[in-house]
Amino acid sequence: MGAPDRYAVIGHPVAHSKSPYIHAAFAAQTGQNLTYERLLAPLDGFAAAVREFVEQGGKGLNVTLPFKLEAHALADTLTERARAAGAVNTLKISDGLILGDNTDGVGLVTDIERNAALPLRGKKVLLLGAGGAARGAILPLLNACPASLTVANRTAAKASSLVGEFAGHGNIVACDFGALQGVFDIVINATSASLDDHLPAVRPDIFDSATLAYDMMYRKEPTVFMLFAAQHGAATRDGLGMLVEQAAESFFLWRGVRPDTAPVYAELRTKT
Ligand code: ATR
Repeated sequence: MGAPDRYAVIGHPVAHSKSPYIHAAFAAQTGQNLTYERLLAPLDGFAAAVREFVEQGGKGLNVTLPFKLEAHALADTLTERARAAGAVNTLKISDGLILGDNTDGVGLVTDIERNAALPLRGKKVLLLGAGGAARGAILPLLNACPASLTVANRTAAKASSLVGEFAGHGNIVACDFGALQGVFDIVINATSASLDDHLPAVRPDIFDSATLAYDMMYRKEPTVFMLFAAQHGAATRDGLGMLVEQAAESFFLWRGVRPDTAPVYAELRTKT
């Protein structure tokens, strides 16, 4: 066996990242000869750190906060979903050229459709938030053919301008929280409110017992959004599955092999 191919997650901070654990587990499971490490880049030194990694023969990077926009700007070519997301979480290096991809949205869709066993086709979907996390989810959600995708944001103008960028890709509408009407099949919290234990100011009757309330955040305890949705009858899910699925999609881009995510998710759940 030759020298292992080198991969890493780059961010600032990066010590908390679960990606090294996830990719090591995928590599062991699929017999891929690779290493995966953490790279702490200075806040003003992202591009230089990537160039150094490329010069040293590195094959791929996951990009985490706060560098996803810089990675989008740095890539030599972009996948369609990375262009639509306006952000890059995966870099693949071949022949010195850097391809930028974004696997976050596809990770979300796979977690909902496969792991939560809820096909999006024909469903009424509500996406809360209009920042980077919401933007990255829109194209993959529309590609799954929901009946409608409503994007609601505290600052309604941001939702309108975001939705305007995706007109023509599917049935997508913008809304402010106060104007939301009716029950949704799936409500996805893509705001950063959970980080501060805040709740987006949505009415409880957007949920019923058939709703899946999905928070892109994860932590040991349910988020305030999940608790609120559960109080009003919804099933809930956090973003740990999305994290594992976006990693699997990056792994596939790099190695051409799809790992089995279920055992890695189960193990991570016990550690989180
Ligand atoms: P991210 O990359 O995590 O999406 P971001 O681009 O800063 O971060 O966007 C944060 C999103 O969370 C925005 O949609 C923001 O709403 P505004 O556009 O009105 O600022 C939303 N958000 C943050 N805190 C919130 C809160 N307490 N209630 C509702 N929405 C909140």
